[in-house]
Amino acid sequence: MSEITVRTLGADDWETYRSIRLTALQESPEAFVATHAQEESATEEFWRERMERSRRLIAYVDKQAVGIASVGAAQEDDNAGELFGLWVHPEARGTGVATALVRAGAEAAAHAGRTQLYYWVGTDNGRAVAFASGYGFRPTHHRRPMRVVSAEDGEEEIAMTLPISA
Ligand SMILES: CC(C)(COP(=O)(O)OP(=O)(O)OC[C@H]1O[C@@H](n2cnc3c(N)ncnc32)[C@H](O)[C@@H]1OP(=O)(O)O)[C@@H](O)C(=O)NCCC(=O)NCCS
Repeated sequence: MSEITVRTLGADDWETYRSIRLTALQESPEAFVATHAQEESATEEFWRERMERSRRLIAYVDKQAVGIASVGAAQEDDNAGELFGLWVHPEARGTGVATALVRAGAEAAAHAGRTQLYYWVGTDNGRAVAFASGYGFRPTHHRRPMRVVSAEDGEEEIAMTLPISA
């Protein structure tokens, strides 16, 4: 099997990030708050600022970009980080790419002194919930309405957490 590599993107990599992020929004509109139309027209300044705000991780297989994830600070707890924006190209699903991205994100958060990692996921997103559970995330009592444009009334997200240490 081909090796999966994960790296953190810097501000000058904004076009690389933009390209895969727009692909993710187009392919999985039900999974993200932002829409492809909103972000397609965003300026270079927006993308550069975004690269600085949170850690942007990208996964490669055979030099092809196959997935992304972001890690930032969690609002629920000062000692926690948050994983968000996780997406894997459909052809690369089930191959360990998501695991490699989350592992890199968890390691970075642990090195930054975080003791747990939050991950908000739609309760109807069976594959993402199954992936997170399999990785070791556990459900919390935190719930909020789904914020995606296509969400129907009553759809919810649940926060899952993973203990991490350096
Ligand atoms: C969520 C995502 C990153 C997970 O990556 P992945 O490569 O698909 O994950 P894996 O294949 O390693 O794990 C998925 C698990 O769900 C299971 N699964 C697959 N389809 C399922 C479904 N419809 N319902 C429940 N479980 C499902 C798989 O069997 C697997 O479990 P296992 O490891 O016990 O066999 C990827 O599916 C994705 O990018 N989805 C679209 C975007 C998205 O929803 N992102 C999350 C936003 S919060």
